[in-house]
Amino acid sequence: MNDSDFIERYGGIYEHSPWVAERARRWLEDDASLESIATCMADCVDNASPEQQLALIRAHPDLAGRAQIAGELTPASTSEQASAGLDRCSEAEYTRFQDLNERYTTKFGFPFVMAVRDRSRVEILDAFEQRLDNDYETEFETALVEIHRIARLRLEMLA
Ligand code: GUN
Repeated sequence: MNDSDFIERYGGIYEHSPWVAERARRWLEDDASLESIATCMADCVDNASPEQQLALIRAHPDLAGRAQIAGELTPASTSEQASAGLDRCSEAEYTRFQDLNERYTTKFGFPFVMAVRDRSRVEILDAFEQRLDNDYETEFETALVEIHRIARLRLEMLA
């Protein structure tokens, strides 16, 4: 696989952040396994500057947010949010998500990120409420852990 094929295939593994695939490509052999690709991409994120990490977190859309309602999500995010039933929220659930999204973003300056594939709306809302009580450093680290989980699931879907 040449460089541009690699970026084409893996550029969306980290949401709106093809720089992760571009950096990882430099370290990977042509026949790298899924495991090596996942580890290498995660290392590239972990070794990026705090500013780049923050930009990566901020590249994520809100869960059950305006972009989802407007149909403006990436295909991967559309599929993840739909697998958790976030495209089928009741009025009350949407209102609850909007309120939580606003409180969370106001407190931390970045969106709530959670690997939601196959989780239930109740589980997500419970985690959302709990994580709102955390401090900035904890949520920054948690967002990156969740982003690596999302990436791993996206890679597995490609395999
Ligand atoms: N978890 C899985 N996909 C997404 C996403 O697109 N946005 C957020 N905030 N969390 C996610």
